[in-house]
Amino acid sequence: MNLLENEKPIGVFDSGIGGLTVVKRIASALPNENIIYFGDTARVPYGSKSNVTVIEYSLQDAQFLIDKGVKAIVVACNTVSSIALKEIRDHFNVPVIGMIEPGAKAADAATKNGRIGVIGTRATINNRAYSEAIKNLNAKFEVIEKPCPLFVPLAEEGWIDHRATYEIAEEYLKEIREQNIDTLVLGCTHYPILSNVIQKVIGSGVTLIDSGVASAEIVEDELRKINLLKTKKTTGQNEFYVSDIPSKFKEVAELFLGQKINHVHKVDLETLTKS
Ligand code: DGL
Repeated sequence: MNLLENEKPIGVFDSGIGGLTVVKRIASALPNENIIYFGDTARVPYGSKSNVTVIEYSLQDAQFLIDKGVKAIVVACNTVSSIALKEIRDHFNVPVIGMIEPGAKAADAATKNGRIGVIGTRATINNRAYSEAIKNLNAKFEVIEKPCPLFVPLAEEGWIDHRATYEIAEEYLKEIREQNIDTLVLGCTHYPILSNVIQKVIGSGVTLIDSGVASAEIVEDELRKINLLKTKKTTGQNEFYVSDIPSKFKEVAELFLGQKINHVHKVDLETLTKS
């Protein structure tokens, strides 16, 4: 059966579980939309890999979603968004939405003192994606950045309130805490899973920016503009695919999304890499 273009699902991908923070936002903004999620759990983390590798993996991830017949791709990964967005857009003929611009705009709207912290993977911070996007909006803003790579495995493990997570957060955030920032961009989609810990450690006076919230709004706007929003009023269904054993993913995903997931499909890396 050929689906009308606008009835097709939205494809979302990340290196692992982090992109679910974006799925959650899209599903609440657009409850009728069907979503196909792919988490490359066999190859996570992307944030400590070279740009060449991240581009190669993300084109394969996007191809997987295209083969599933998606009408748009949401790159629910800041690392991929900061490195490979152009390549993905050049390769595929569907709207491709990334995380950096929406996150930067949300930080711009939230800050009062113009001092913005950004935490992310090593790749995102080294590529200076956020500082450039924020400075493009206002050259006077001070951007203080810090890579926090260990937050990714802690989130994958579901250690959302664990003593070790507090200790690591204390260590990572201690310099940034002294910089009088009033806004902190969670520049990695895994980090909102740990947002309680991050908020406690950075202090209640600092506004946390979840780039997933900001990008979900862009998804809605983009699809509306080009008449790609689903018109049937049936409740959206989500399908989940991962490239490694699904059990831990299912557990943390259910905890995070606050809903039961019937089935998580396992995709062979071989299928992914031959595309
Ligand atoms: N969740 C991803 C991000 O937003 C990547 C984490 C990783 O694979 O290192 O950057």
